[in-house]
Parts: sequence; C-alpha cells; structure tokens
Amino acid sequence: MPDTPDSPAFCTRLSVEETGGLAALQFRHPPRSFNLTPASRIAMRTIGEQQHLLAGRGLDWGSGSGCLAIAAARIPTVDQVIGLDISPQNIMAARQNAALNGVGEKVTFLLADSYQPLADSDWRLLAAYSGRIDFILANPPSSEGDDGFGYRRIVLAGARDFLRRGGLLFLNVSYQYGRQRVTNLVRQIPGFSYDGLLASTDWVPFDLQRPDLRHCLALYVAEEDRGGLQYEFRLHPGSATVAGARQAWAHFQATGLSPLTRWQTHLFRYVGEDAVADTPGPA
Ligand SMILES: C[S@@+](CC[C@H](N)C(=O)[O-])C[C@H]1O[C@@H](n2cnc3c(N)ncnc32)[C@H](O)[C@@H]1O
Repeated sequence: MPDTPDSPAFCTRLSVEETGGLAALQFRHPPRSFNLTPASRIAMRTIGEQQHLLAGRGLDWGSGSGCLAIAAARIPTVDQVIGLDISPQNIMAARQNAALNGVGEKVTFLLADSYQPLADSDWRLLAAYSGRIDFILANPPSSEGDDGFGYRRIVLAGARDFLRRGGLLFLNVSYQYGRQRVTNLVRQIPGFSYDGLLASTDWVPFDLQRPDLRHCLALYVAEEDRGGLQYEFRLHPGSATVAGARQAWAHFQATGLSPLTRWQTHLFRYVGEDAVADTPGPA
C-alpha cells in the first residue's frame, strides 16, 4: 500500500504521556522535512514536564517539524512562540502541523539562518522582540568542521539579544558531548547561569545504523585526533567507564554494537552580561 501523509513513514503521533502530560500531538514530516528523533522526543517531554517554567513569549531555534514550538504553545500560560528554521520544507511542514494541532493562532514559523530571518518583514517582526523573549527552546544539529558543538555556542550567544533578564533556555545536549563542553558554554559565553539537567533518557544506543549519527561520530573522532576534548560514551549498559569517540568507533567496528549515550535537555538562565555567573557545570 502506498504511504499516505498520515502513514507512520510521514507522520509521528505522540501520546499524552510522551509529551509530558501536555496533549496527544501529531506531526507530519513530508519528504525532505525533518523527522522527529529521540532527541526531539526528550525535548518535547521536557516541555510538558517543566511547563510550570514556561510562560509568555518563546522562540524555537531550528524548529524542524515545529514540534517544540507547538508543544510549548499548548501550555495555557504561553502566549506566542516563533519558530526559526533554515529549511523551507521544514517551515511549510511546521505551519501545517501547527494548524493540525490547534495552535495555528499562537505560533509563527520564519525562514531564518539562526536568529536572522531571511525576509525583511520577518526580520522586523523578530527584531521587535529583542530583549522581550521569556524562553528559548533549541534542539540544534551537530555542526561541521569543529567539535560538533558549534550550534550550541551560536544558540547561546545569539539568545542574549532576545531573552529578557531571567529568561530561560531549554537546550538539548546529549551526554556524549561531555560535561566539560556544557560547563565551557557558560564560561565562554558570558551572561548565563547553568541551572541543571531538566530531563534525560536512560542509556540508549547512539545508533550508528543512522547515517547522520555515523557521520557525527566520524567528526568527533577527528576532533579528538586534533587534541580536542574527549567525548563521553559508554560501551556497555551498567558500565561506569567513559569511552571516547575513537574507542566507541573501534568497538563498533569490532562488534557491530553502537555506543551508548543519553538524550538530554539542560536549563540555562540569562542573567545579563554584567552579572558574574558562577555556576558549576553538570555533575
Ligand atoms: C536536530 S533538528 C531539530 C528539529 C526540531 N526542533 C526537533 O526537535 O525535532 C535541527 C533543526 O535546525 C535546523 N537548522 C540547521 N541549521 C540552521 C540554521 N543555521 N538556522 C536555523 N535553523 C537551522 C534544521 O533545519 C533542523 O530542522
């Protein structure tokens, strides 16, 4: 039977439990638009479970199918969410998904490169929110040609133009990036406190059958070979021993088994660039 827009190949349905108690939601992801991943799912669950932290106006950096903006828009105290994405296919899918989930009035999706909308009118719209945003949601992609963490730094640095003082950033950073990279974010990009881990999966495979994750691991190996910070996988359930990217790759080649990571969402708070942030990183 041919796939229809509502078949599992192009549509993901999440139960109330999977959205942290928010609502049953569904997301269409037509070909060439972003399909939800385990990282999207933990971010959505976090939004539902931590809905008491979210109110007012929000941004969704790299909105993909619109799932995070739409989930947040289902929270009664949230007035408006603006999603930003570089892919026209994603923007189109996200707009349809907003209508499908009954929040078309509360969410707007803008074609943008990071925080820079491509159309002048959208640029003016977003600029009007400078310093007036209450929260930002971001499940950024892995970056190329560096340690894979570049988009997290971009999200944090740019967030300072939009968040009001005290505004929150829900940032997805999966475990394998290592605690030091999270700690370094607040050291290298002044203006934030690190307020802890909001949600985490158990140890799950960093599924190297997925070509995108295999590519990420190759980039991590190159970064370690350049002398960058080590990544932090586990090779076996229950093991406390940290395995770097090169070791994880060797293990996969020898056994066919993917290394383990945890998909996680962390909380940062904008305290202002004049404040001295002295918060430790993740334990
Ligand atoms: C990991 S996906 C997350 C999508 C969605 N938020 C989710 O959780 O499923 C990252 C998203 O960032 C978008 N993206 C990548 N580079 C971007 C950029 N420079 N500016 C805006 N969006 C970007 C991609 O198109 C993709 O939709």
